[in-house]
Amino acid sequence: MLLSVLRGSIEWASTTQGERDMAETASLQIEDKIIQLPIIVGSEDEKALDISKLRAETGYITLDQGYGNTGSCQSDITFIDGDKGILRYRGYAIEDLAANSSFIETAYLLIWGELPNADELREFSALFTKHQMLREGIKHHFNLFPPNSPPMAVLSSALNALACYYPELLDIEDAATFTEASARIMSKVRTIAAYSHRQQLGHRIEYPHPDKQFAENFLHMMFSEPYNQFEPDPALVKALDLIFLLHADHEQNCSTSTVRMVGSSEANLFASVAAGVGALWGPLHGGANVAVVNMLERISAENLSVTDFVRQVKDKKAGIRLMGFGHRVYKNFDPRANIIKKSCEEVLEKLHIDDPMLDIAKELEAVALQDDYFVQRKLYPNVDFYSGVILRALGIPKEMFTVIFAIGRMPGWIAQWYEESKSTKISRPRQVYTGSVERSYQPMVERS
Ligand code: ACO
Repeated sequence: MLLSVLRGSIEWASTTQGERDMAETASLQIEDKIIQLPIIVGSEDEKALDISKLRAETGYITLDQGYGNTGSCQSDITFIDGDKGILRYRGYAIEDLAANSSFIETAYLLIWGELPNADELREFSALFTKHQMLREGIKHHFNLFPPNSPPMAVLSSALNALACYYPELLDIEDAATFTEASARIMSKVRTIAAYSHRQQLGHRIEYPHPDKQFAENFLHMMFSEPYNQFEPDPALVKALDLIFLLHADHEQNCSTSTVRMVGSSEANLFASVAAGVGALWGPLHGGANVAVVNMLERISAENLSVTDFVRQVKDKKAGIRLMGFGHRVYKNFDPRANIIKKSCEEVLEKLHIDDPMLDIAKELEAVALQDDYFVQRKLYPNVDFYSGVILRALGIPKEMFTVIFAIGRMPGWIAQWYEESKSTKISRPRQVYTGSVERSYQPMVERS
């Protein structure tokens, strides 16, 4: 492989398969200097150029705004092939896990690399039960947030606050401490989410139930009252567990990269996942599930036809995106979206729920997938396009949708943080500076 860079123009000279098999480096020519860049090959034959010595050897850095073409790490956890719509956790296809596994088992797989045997799963689940309560002191934090506080702000703050209660878990130097910290976070995040919801409603906090499984327990804390225990239909519990599982990891997305970035400074696990919550909040990432339902509600409230709405989206001046569509990596289909859509239809049919939002979503999808604008840009429904409709069926308020995503993503963040913690290199990108060159301080009287 030959990569030549000559006075700003880049030329790739392709090589034959035989040459490529033999090549372990790529040659890069910059002006009159040729340097060798090691080629890194992943287990699925993905190829990368190692440019870590580029600046030292040539004075150049690479520029890739938004990191669309930059690998930030080598990772054993999750594999995505965006062109083929493949997503695998530790080698297992997402479709296989969705059909056969549970969120807790998948969390174990992500963190420890292998599916647990029966004893390991029992012990892991027992840790969740053991750590599901919050210290009484933490409950007071909720009371201090004003009404209508954004639940993602409350979640991020509460995760940071956990660090104050478990100082012994701030330095993780062995697997036992890591297990303890990660089980506490994964279990308590669900309690925190439900408590924040109750507090916002001004309702009494409902404690976790020791006999209920992860998703059911969350629904119990959200919706049970002392005089009326919430007994959800098992189909709803299964659908929520599936939503958690489908969100459990997604390699180096915005929030996971944030968690790894923060963790690379050797910041503790609590601070790192709290930062992940902040990154997830935005509507271009996890906040898209709220934005999708806002969009569907707007189409319904304004009695817009789907074709008119799609026309608005295509008019770039309007600045409207079809939320829940498009993905940085998937350019064919998002396998999670296919699974969620099917689950959504099944749940709504089983519970005889007729949600007009589902009809609008399906119509939008059908129109967009036939439209040249979306076809040419390879824009397909992503995981968030249908998840909001299921969450509505569960009775979960819109403001909590991204919190649900965060609960699901927690094992992925934790697994990725742990992997990052084995490296001693702090993450610190460079930049191309485009501001003023050096100038002298101007006294106030001389300023216009
Ligand atoms: N609606 C309309 N046009 C879109 C959309 C969309 N949802 N997504 C991308 N485009 C267009 C862009 O305007 C751009 O058009 P152009 O080439 O004419 O300028 C082209 O498609 C490429 O878009 P980018 O923004 O460059 O793609 P990128 O990979 O940076 O962004 C993203 C991916 C952020 C997901 C984008 O598709 C988007 O904003 N989607 C809507 C928000 C969303 O659903 N986010 C959830 C993603 S999944 C997740 O995080 C869990």
